[in-house]
Amino acid sequence: MTSIPIGVVTVSDRASAGIYEDRGGPAIIAELQRILTTPWRAESRVIADERPLIAYTLTDLSDRLHCPLIVTTGGTGPALRDVTPEATEDVCEKMMPGFGELMRSVSLQSVPTAILSRQTAGIRGNSLIINLPGKPTAIAECLAAVFPAIPYCIDLIGGPYLETDPAVCRAFRPAAKT
Ligand code: MTE
Repeated sequence: MTSIPIGVVTVSDRASAGIYEDRGGPAIIAELQRILTTPWRAESRVIADERPLIAYTLTDLSDRLHCPLIVTTGGTGPALRDVTPEATEDVCEKMMPGFGELMRSVSLQSVPTAILSRQTAGIRGNSLIINLPGKPTAIAECLAAVFPAIPYCIDLIGGPYLETDPAVCRAFRPAAKT
């Protein structure tokens, strides 16, 4: 069986320059390994906070590599260089604001600064793109909150059927209409 490519994009000037080690990308991979039972593989990228570069990377993962899911980490805050949500909007045909709303609301239970993240999500072609904050601790928290809705969202955009370990995350698919 061929594995499903999933885009894992760390957006960070310092991690991309090697000033510090990327901890966000590996945290996303670890969380996806826990959740997904469908065979998949990570298409990992570590890039600087440059809007055209982020947009290019997301487009490449979607159009050329056909990733049904692309998860970014970093660049969602208010600082001048934080442009991941703008780059996501640049490449998406449709925004999915519910993802950001839920992730902020869950994160707010741990940190009052959760409201500083402008994280969002959107659809490009057959890909769902989701932004996570840069803090590695935010990754499991945010992914766990939204993951139950992800497999059905990917069904709706014509992607592959993703299965999860129900002991970790129960994917919700509404009953088929008769
Ligand atoms: N969400 C969670 N779950 N945990 C966190 O520690 N940090 C917040 C927020 N969301 C945080 C969080 C902070 S301090 C900022 S500035 C924003 O995410 C944006 O982070 P980013 O620019 O690294 O994406």
